[in-house]
Amino acid sequence: MQFSKPLTAFSTSDRLSLKDRLQIEYLVNANILAETEKVLSQDIINGLIQTPKSLPPRYFYDDRGSQLFEQICQLPEYYPTRTEASILQECSEEIARLTGPCEIVELGSGSSTKTRILLDAYDTLGLPLRYLPIDISGGILESSAKDLLVDYPNLYIHGLVSTYELALSALKPAALPTRMISFLGSSLGNLSPQECDIFFSQIRGALQPGEYFILGIDLHKSKQILEPAYNDSQGVTAAFNLNMLQHLNRKFEGNFNLRKFEHLAFYNEKLHQIEMHLKSQEQQTVNLRGLDLTVTLEAGETILTEISRKFEIETMQQYLKKQSLITMKTWTDSEQKFGLILSKFSPEI
Ligand code: AVI
Repeated sequence: MQFSKPLTAFSTSDRLSLKDRLQIEYLVNANILAETEKVLSQDIINGLIQTPKSLPPRYFYDDRGSQLFEQICQLPEYYPTRTEASILQECSEEIARLTGPCEIVELGSGSSTKTRILLDAYDTLGLPLRYLPIDISGGILESSAKDLLVDYPNLYIHGLVSTYELALSALKPAALPTRMISFLGSSLGNLSPQECDIFFSQIRGALQPGEYFILGIDLHKSKQILEPAYNDSQGVTAAFNLNMLQHLNRKFEGNFNLRKFEHLAFYNEKLHQIEMHLKSQEQQTVNLRGLDLTVTLEAGETILTEISRKFEIETMQQYLKKQSLITMKTWTDSEQKFGLILSKFSPEI
C-alpha cells in the first residue's frame, strides 16, 4: 500500500506552494517493514551461528550510528567523502551539459549534501530541477527536502521513503526528458559481488534506454592510506562498529558487553576490500532473547560487520558495459583516490 504524506511546515508566501513543489511518498508501511525485519533477523541468526561469523551492515544505522557515520565523513583520515565532493565540484556542470534537462534520482540520499553540487550545476545552466531522493529514513528525507526547497526556489522534489529495491521497481516514467540515477559515496563497495549483480538488475529495470546512471567508487590504493581511514585516531569508526552491538541489544533484548569486543579493520589485499570486524576479547556467551538465540564466541574470534570493496575504473566500466551501461565519461581526483562514472543505459548495443 502506498500513501503520500502532506507537509504543512511551510509558509504560504512561498513562490509556489509547498504542495506544488514537494511530495513525500511512503512506499514502506508497517507490514513491509515487519517483513524486512523478519528477513534481517534471520540474517542475524544465520550470521552468528556460522563460522566465520558475520552481522548485516544494515544494523550500523540506528540514530547514533547515522550520527557517527556523519562524523566519519568529516574525519581527516576518511578521504572518500571530501574527495568525491571535490570531483563533483569540478565536473557537475559537464554532467549537466551531457544529460541536459534531467530528473535526478538519488539512492540513499541522506542529507543530500553532495547532490547540492549537482543541483547547483543544473540551476546555473538554467535547466529545470527535479529531484527524487530515496531513503529508508522518512525523518531525514523530509527535513533535507525542506531545506533544499528553501535554497532552490525552482526545485521540485518527489521523495520516496523506501528501500532501494522497492523504489526502483516503483519509479514512474521521468517527468523531464531524461533521468539520471545517482549512487554516490562508494556505497556499492559495501555490497558483495552477488548483491552487486542483483542491485544492477534492479537499476536496469528502472532505467529507460538513453537514461543515465552516475556511480561514485573508491579506487584501489595502498593500505597505508586505506587502513587509517577505517582506524581513525579519534576512534569514531571503532565507536560506529561497536554501536552495532548496542543497537542489537536494544532491538533484540541482547546482552552484548561492548567492553568485551574490539574494533578491527584491515585491508584484504587479495580481495581489494576493507574488512571491518568485532573481535571477541575472551570466550563468552551472548544472548539475544528477542531472537531466541544464544551464541558462544571464542577468545579472538571475529564477527565480520562490513566489507568495503575498492575498485578500478576500467574494470568497473567493463562490468557496467555487461549491464548495458555504456560509459559516457569518467572523472577522478588528481591522486586517483576516487572515481565517478557517468554511463548511459543502452540495451540495444
Ligand atoms: C557507507 N560506506 C560507503 C562506508 C565505507 O567507506 O564503506 C561505510 C563506512 N564504514 C566505516 N567507515 C565508513
